[in-house]
Amino acid sequence: MTILVTGGTGYIGSHTAVELIQKGYEVIIADNLCNSSESVLDKIAEITGTKPKFYLVDLTDKEATRKIFEENKIDAVIHFAGLKAVGESCLKPLMYYYNNIASSVVLAEVMAEYGCKKIIFSSSATVYGEPETVPITEDFPIFTTNPYGTTKLMIERIYTDLAKSDSEWNVTLLRYFNPIGAHSSGLIGENPNGIPNNLMPYIVKVALGELYQLSVFGNDYDTHDGTGVRDYIHVTDLALGHIAAIEKLTDPGVHIFNLGTGTGYSVLDIVKAFEKANDIKVPYVITARRPGDVPILLADPSKAERELGWKTKLGLEDMCRSSWNFAKKTLNK
Ligand code: NAD
Ligand code: UFG
Repeated sequence: MTILVTGGTGYIGSHTAVELIQKGYEVIIADNLCNSSESVLDKIAEITGTKPKFYLVDLTDKEATRKIFEENKIDAVIHFAGLKAVGESCLKPLMYYYNNIASSVVLAEVMAEYGCKKIIFSSSATVYGEPETVPITEDFPIFTTNPYGTTKLMIERIYTDLAKSDSEWNVTLLRYFNPIGAHSSGLIGENPNGIPNNLMPYIVKVALGELYQLSVFGNDYDTHDGTGVRDYIHVTDLALGHIAAIEKLTDPGVHIFNLGTGTGYSVLDIVKAFEKANDIKVPYVITARRPGDVPILLADPSKAERELGWKTKLGLEDMCRSSWNFAKKTLNK
């Protein structure tokens, strides 16, 4: 089976490409490299022994996207490509709406033209907004608090409408919680440009000595230690969730799954776990809450376990160790 992985040189896409290749799938990657590097292809080759075919393509460009389908027989698409920074999306909403939505529409149009009607889309727990209770099941109401989240919600709706209009479509919407960690080889991982927005990449930069200290955004939430609680999931477990979706969801229609562990950790839990796993200090200071943050987000992942036979295997220690291993091996050069 040939799988087109859009955004496949990015963080989650590259880990998924590795797992797919190792399971015998043929992988084609399409990316415009706006937030990743072509060198990731060599890392994938180093890990798997196979360098995926690569198209340097902006998916808003229909002709260029068509070329991929013209030259290859694609069986399914995993659609990771998109912009993902919440803060930036508030400053540049049009850029986010255009890039994320136009690319998703163009991709689906071209897929339909070539009779490829199986897509797995990277959605996010951000579509649950500020849930009234946790854990969150897939039938919770969805609404968003920032333009990035709204693009995810809108693309979910667009693909759902598409599946309603044509019963041959098989659409899977995967709502990721907080992916962290890196491949066990230390060759691929999360490598954001500039000062990181997210917790784990920030901790890593502090541990590397590139940033002075971590700001913990608020310790007055109603959680066990007052700091925000999230459902962190190892990126390799997340990657395997996509393979389960490819293999198990053979019926047309719309399939929606939370991908998380069901266990919540606070910011301070993560700092302590990172320090312990890697025997390194992470200096931090408590600061004000970050606008838009919610106290706690936690998945109920039982639907994925029931219907996909998928369950996370890697714990917090692995997440912290692998993040640091990648940083030392690949970032600190
Ligand atoms: P990433 O930025 O590392 O990867 C996304 C890739 O898409 C990048 O390589 C980028 O160059 C590419 N891209 C962006 N716009 C494109 C376009 N128009 N045409 C072609 N390529 C384009 O991000 P990631 O963390 O790997 O996230 C992958 C997907 O998962 C994204 O859709 C993101 O919104 C979603 N997601 C991520 C998280 C997270 O915390 N990382 C959480 C929930 C959902
Ligand atoms: N945090 C800090 N200091 C930092 C960075 C983060 O204290 O420097 C805290 C946050 O306040 C929050 C927790 O660490 O309590 C996690 O924050 P992240 O920024 O790592 O992740 P978020 O939960 O805010 O959001 C992430 C992605 C979104 C995605 C969401 C899904 O950035 O795109 O997970 O749950 F939608």
